[in-house]
Amino acid sequence: MEMQVFESRAAAERDVAREIAGLVRRRPDAVLGLATGNTPTGVYAELARLRREEGLDLSRVRTFNLDEYCGLAPTNPRSFRAWMERELFVPAGIALDRVCFPDGFEAGHPVRVEELPRVCDAFERAIRDAGGIDLQLLGIGRNGHIGFNEPGSTRASRTRRVELHPWTREDAAAEFGGLEHVPTHAITMGVATILEARAVRVLAFGAKKRALVRRTLDTANDPAWPASFLCAHAGVRLVVDREAAT
Ligand code: GLP
Repeated sequence: MEMQVFESRAAAERDVAREIAGLVRRRPDAVLGLATGNTPTGVYAELARLRREEGLDLSRVRTFNLDEYCGLAPTNPRSFRAWMERELFVPAGIALDRVCFPDGFEAGHPVRVEELPRVCDAFERAIRDAGGIDLQLLGIGRNGHIGFNEPGSTRASRTRRVELHPWTREDAAAEFGGLEHVPTHAITMGVATILEARAVRVLAFGAKKRALVRRTLDTANDPAWPASFLCAHAGVRLVVDREAAT
């Protein structure tokens, strides 16, 4: 896996945002795979700046987010969808009818658990119908997860309902005002879904991510460390700052 080290987080964020902007200028209806979490926030802020100051037009892109908590309506301010609207879609001018989440809701109502496989299949089909993902952004979770593909996820996994790892729930506790309020399950794109993206940019910033970067580089195809499945993909680049580099 290729690793690109930048002097600073801001420099890395500018580079990734510039790459996305270049893609969208060539193909205004490019398909972007998006991530939540602290890691991609600077890239999103930079895309919004490029829109404001350089007239970058993102109104025709299609987007697919990696994951969503089960049971949170798209209108719930704690949903990843609401977060994405605040952090990217509205400030960057992305059309809200061109974004897609594996949220398990249909016409504003939660789908029953038994029916989720159908909803997950429809999400996979929507990606295929859009022509596949041109560029996928990814972060790495504390236990090596990508999206919500927790340890134990297989290389062949597809979009599905998963149980969240205790660390993942712990890491979200502050945002939800206590561990007991963090959903126990989520729907995530699978590892195989992610690996079908034509390009993948894995971002990791700060000393806290250093050990995760090391293990991701040192491990191959190990279900105990889902980020290790990325090694088999020629279009993957690990984008890090000095502190996260090893
Ligand atoms: C969450 C998300 C992941 C993200 C990870 C790391 O669980 N589902 O997509 O990559 O956490 O989060 P952060 O970027 O805040 O370190």
